[in-house]
Amino acid sequence: MSDDVRTASAQPLPSDARARMEALNSEAKPLNIWLRTQANAPAQQAWFKETGLATAGHIAEGRVAAGQMKAVPHLWKWKEISPYLDKIARIATEADIPPTEFADRQQFLLTNPGLGGRLQVAASIRCAISIYNPGDLARAHLHSPNASRTILSDNGGYTTVEGERCIANRGDLILTPNGTWHDHGNDGTTPVVWIDTLDWPLMEFLDIIWLDEDMPGEMGVDNRRMQRPSSPDGYSHDLYGVGGIMPRIALRSRGFGKGTSPYFHYRGEDIKEALLVLRDEEGDPHEGIALGLVNPATGGAVFPTLTYGAQLIRAGEETQFKRETSSTVYVCISGRGETEIAGQIFKWEENDIFVVPNFLWRRHVAKGPADAVLYTMSDAPLLEKIGQYRAQGMDPKGKVTNIVA
Ligand SMILES: [Fe+2]
Repeated sequence: MSDDVRTASAQPLPSDARARMEALNSEAKPLNIWLRTQANAPAQQAWFKETGLATAGHIAEGRVAAGQMKAVPHLWKWKEISPYLDKIARIATEADIPPTEFADRQQFLLTNPGLGGRLQVAASIRCAISIYNPGDLARAHLHSPNASRTILSDNGGYTTVEGERCIANRGDLILTPNGTWHDHGNDGTTPVVWIDTLDWPLMEFLDIIWLDEDMPGEMGVDNRRMQRPSSPDGYSHDLYGVGGIMPRIALRSRGFGKGTSPYFHYRGEDIKEALLVLRDEEGDPHEGIALGLVNPATGGAVFPTLTYGAQLIRAGEETQFKRETSSTVYVCISGRGETEIAGQIFKWEENDIFVVPNFLWRRHVAKGPADAVLYTMSDAPLLEKIGQYRAQGMDPKGKVTNIVA
């Protein structure tokens, strides 16, 4: 992040857009969301930049890590929170300076009600919902946190990652691993909406958050803030799109992050098809028909810190109880149902998002005539690496067994 950007983000009210969004924040607070009115302000610059001692001993502006608090199970109803996307989009359309200029993004973040307003849904996971109007751009940048987009709108937006332009369609997962240049935009005719999921709170706790917006080299033709595509569309798929076949040639660099997936774009249509192919299998008693979206070069999680999955809970299916030391965020892609978490029932339908914090028993039930599809984001890989991942199941008679001891 350049100094002028940092200074600009600290100035008061560059337009009435920020004031209007702040006003909406009072109204939206009971829904446990926070409309972004500030840019991220890490306490330090990129580790490879010469920073001197200027930032040492100072606390970043905005909301920063606080003492230990406990996340609670919570469900964000799409019908309640999505009107705020429309409100943000309208402010962006009317403002002389759009929110992307002073807050980086047009989005609201989900705040877990157990965490005192901190910008996180679980111990290590941040989630935001972003909206991009036609023509919007979020400039090219990279950062230390790993991030992803789960696409909710039907079509119209894109994320370019390390020169690969990933066209966003509903149900897609697009990764922007740490150390990859990426920019976002909407070149369609209708607003684009997606969920951003990041390991930001973990990096914040470790005090290793930094970001950089000074992309070297050639930029977009009409706007120097976006990448010029350097890989063919569908490059991830070209390289790793056939299961069981892996390239054994030197590949072009895909960022400098370590332990992250070189496959950036998981397509919703492929995920749906893969779930349907497995539908008649017995499945997992705690998960229904479950899939992992993995790093195809290793078979492991896509990030060292987060893993992503999709699961089909078949019409009428009730899973058994399970609990884990990791936390999981769910989004309902289709169908409807309910999840019992620590004795509380959370009813969900399309686009609803809910969190199962660590240690809590949960089970899923698909309601209604159709199968339900849930996408998951979990910090299990992180806990595995530090020797803290454990899981248990409980059968209908209440017998508890270790899944991972
Ligand atoms: Fe980013």
